[in-house]
Amino acid sequence: MKERIQQLLSQIQQLQAGSAEELEALRIKYLSKKGEISALFNDFRNVAPEDKKEIGMRINELKQQAQNRFEELKAQFEAAKAEAERQDLTCTADPVTLGTRHPLSLVREEIIDIFSRIGFTVEEGPEVEDDKHVFGMLNFAPEHPARDMQDTFFIEKEEGIQKPTDILLRTHTSSVQTRVMTTQKPPIRVLCPGRVYRNEAISARAHCFFHQVEGLYIDKNVSFADLRQTLLYFAKEMFGADTKIRLRPSYFPFTEPSAEMDISCNICGGTGCGFCKQTGWVEILGCGMVDPNVLESCGIDSKEYTGYAFGMGVERITNLKYRVKDLRLFSENDVRFLNQFQSC
Ligand code: PHE
Repeated sequence: MKERIQQLLSQIQQLQAGSAEELEALRIKYLSKKGEISALFNDFRNVAPEDKKEIGMRINELKQQAQNRFEELKAQFEAAKAEAERQDLTCTADPVTLGTRHPLSLVREEIIDIFSRIGFTVEEGPEVEDDKHVFGMLNFAPEHPARDMQDTFFIEKEEGIQKPTDILLRTHTSSVQTRVMTTQKPPIRVLCPGRVYRNEAISARAHCFFHQVEGLYIDKNVSFADLRQTLLYFAKEMFGADTKIRLRPSYFPFTEPSAEMDISCNICGGTGCGFCKQTGWVEILGCGMVDPNVLESCGIDSKEYTGYAFGMGVERITNLKYRVKDLRLFSENDVRFLNQFQSC
């Protein structure tokens, strides 16, 4: 009997329970009416009278210890449960991870910011345009190659019509300028940012859509020198105070004279490197004095007013600023690429 009491005592001291069900099962095993301790009380009858006092004390002690141990386990168990269920109402909800801005948006905003400091305001227009606003009023001859199916996406007005219609996806945001010139009176000083479309095979260097920011300034006595100075200011603000510009003669139907502008290579500083093909210069935009024909077709008196215009590709500027070589990265939505602009 004494041995049995001793055995049970050490079992009880080591008891562990992982769940409420386990704890209850143990209670039944030891403390219920049919449990091990009750069995001892039943056997007590058979204990010799001289041992009764001692054995009785021990059994009572065992019962007490067992009850204490169960209370202890129950308390432990309830504390753990309460901890798990505890809610900190001061905690923020799901952590908010900050998104990143698309590099093209960053650069577009920067271009707009630089020009807005010298009085340019933003104008936007439709991406689905008509021939008149994209080409006609901009002095494109009817047979100009830009109107060709190879460059321009035409929209079929009606099902079944195969031949080109005059509804198309704009190939440049100069279309917004024609809309502004026909609806506003000079002085006009606007920036036209937006997406444009050209029918090109997609590669690292070309895409069927890209983004432009074009600018237009029309007033009395606007000169090529004004254009040059404005673009020099832009280049220095965008690429650093040491940046130099050069203007090369070029051709656009809507400007005369026309030029293309290079900036001193911002990678080698103009000494020549792989990026600028050893020339020290990289091309960034097209520009020129608005052709009088364009002013007239938009209802502006070309004897009274002159103007300049310029247009640049946002992807090109972004490439120069952030060295993004493959144009396709801009539209693939790969977060590994986009996350790099986190700190901007
Ligand atoms: N519209 C021209 C283009 O898309 C850019 C440009 C704008 C050139 C204004 C000269 C003046 O290529």
